[in-house]
Amino acid sequence: MEHKKKSGFSGSLGFVLAAAGSAVGVGNIWRFPYLAAQDGGGLFLLVYLGLVLTFGFTLLTTDIAIGRRTKQNALQAFGTMHRKWNFLGKLTFLVPAIIMTYYTVIGGWVSKYVLVYLTGRGPAAAEDGYFTRFITAPVAPIVLMLLFLAATAIVVYFGVEKGIERFSKAVMPGLLVLVIVIAVFVLTLKQTGPDGVQRTGLQGLGVYLIPNFEGLTVGRFLRILLDAMSQLFFSLSVSMGIMITYGSYVKDEVNLSRSVRQIEIFDTGVALLAGAMIVPAVFMFSGTEGMAQGPSLMFEALPKVFTAMGGVGHVVGLAFFVMLGFAALTSCVSILETLVANCKTLFHIPRKKMCIIISAVSAGAAVLICLGYNVLFFSVALPNGTNGQLLDVMDYISNSFLMPLISLLTSLFVGWVMKPKWIEEEMESSGHTFHGKRMYSFMIRFVVPVIMAVLFLQSTGIMTFF
Ligand code: PHE
Repeated sequence: MEHKKKSGFSGSLGFVLAAAGSAVGVGNIWRFPYLAAQDGGGLFLLVYLGLVLTFGFTLLTTDIAIGRRTKQNALQAFGTMHRKWNFLGKLTFLVPAIIMTYYTVIGGWVSKYVLVYLTGRGPAAAEDGYFTRFITAPVAPIVLMLLFLAATAIVVYFGVEKGIERFSKAVMPGLLVLVIVIAVFVLTLKQTGPDGVQRTGLQGLGVYLIPNFEGLTVGRFLRILLDAMSQLFFSLSVSMGIMITYGSYVKDEVNLSRSVRQIEIFDTGVALLAGAMIVPAVFMFSGTEGMAQGPSLMFEALPKVFTAMGGVGHVVGLAFFVMLGFAALTSCVSILETLVANCKTLFHIPRKKMCIIISAVSAGAAVLICLGYNVLFFSVALPNGTNGQLLDVMDYISNSFLMPLISLLTSLFVGWVMKPKWIEEEMESSGHTFHGKRMYSFMIRFVVPVIMAVLFLQSTGIMTFF
C-alpha cells in the first residue's frame, strides 16, 4: 500500500478555491466571451449551461473521486485501479505537459499588458498591430514569459497548503469582486461608435443574453455544441489529470458532491460575468461585427475599448489585466503542481527540487513557443479547419485531440470496467449524499462515450459529421 500523502488541503474551502483557481483562467475571461459573442449570445449560454450540469458534473466528479479514492496522481491512479489501464495515466499526464509549454507564454502576454497599463501606455496598446508587433518581437515575450513562470514556480515551491491554498484563498475572492465591479461599470456606459450609432451597455447585455435563433441550422447548432463542449473541458480543467491530483489532496471527510457543485458554480459564474463585461463593452464600441473578432478580442479589441473610455479607461484596463493575470497564474500553478506531483513519484526526487527542475525544462520549451512567432515561424492547416502556429499546434494536440480521447477512454473505463458504483462509493464515503447519482451513472456509461467519440472524430478530421 502506498502511504498517504503528507501534504494536502486544510479543508473544503481551501480545496474548492484552489480547484476554482485552476478552473478559472484565460478560458473564462477571454475564450468564453468570444465564443458567446460569435455563437449567437444567449443560445451559446443555454447550450453551455446545459453541458455544465450534465457533462461538466460527470467529468469533474470522475476526476476528483478518482484522485481522492486512489490518493494518487493520474500517472499512478489508473494503474492502481486496474493494471491494464496504466496507459491511460500516461496519456493523461501528457496534457498538462503540453499545456505547460504555452500557458506561460500567454501568461507573459497578459503580464505585458499589466505593465503597459501600469505605466499609463494603454492608448499605445490600442493601436492597430500592437499585439502582433509584441508577440513577434525577439526578446520581450521571452522575458515576460520567464517572469510569469517564476511567479508560478514560487507558489508551487511553497507547497500545497502554504503555497497553492493560501494564494488561492487570497486571490480568488478578490477576482470575483473585480469581475462584478467591472461588469456593473460597463453596463452603466453609453457610447457613440465610429458608425455614429449610440449604443448602451444594457443593449449590449441584451445581445449577450437573448438567444439569437436567426439563420440557425442543424449544422450550426452542432458547431455551437462542439464549441461549447471543448470550452467546457478546458474551462473546468478536466480530463488532464489536474483535478485527479487536486482530488488526491482532499481530506476524506470533505463532502465531494458539494465541492463539485461549488467549483462548477464558481467557474461558470466567472465566465458568465466575464461575458457580461466584455460582450457589451465591445458591442458598444464596435457593434456586432466587432464581436465576431475571435481570439484577438481580448488583446486587440479591449485596449481600444479602454482607450475610448477616456481617463477611467486606464484604471479599468489595469484592473482587467491584473485580474486576468491572477486568473492565469492560479491556473498555471495547477498545471505545474500536477507535473511536479507526477514526476516526484516517478523519479523519486523531493518536491522542491522537482519543482525547480520542471520549471527549468518548461522555460526551455516555452522559449521555443515564443520563437514560433519569429525565428521558428510556420503556419500549418490543422485538421479542425483552422491555421495555426506552434502555439496553436500544441493547443490543438492537447485540447482537440487528447482531451476528447482521454474523456472517451476514461468514461469507458469508469463506466464499464470499474462501474459507476466505484465512484459513487467514494462520493458517499464521507457520509454525505451523492446528488445526481442516477444521472451520473447514465452519463458516464452511455452519453459521454458516444459524444466524446463524435467530438474526437470531428476535431481530428477523421470523420466530419457536420
Ligand atoms: N481552466 C483554465 C482556464 O479556463 C485553463 C487550464 C487549462 C488550466 C489547463 C489548467 C490546465 O483558463
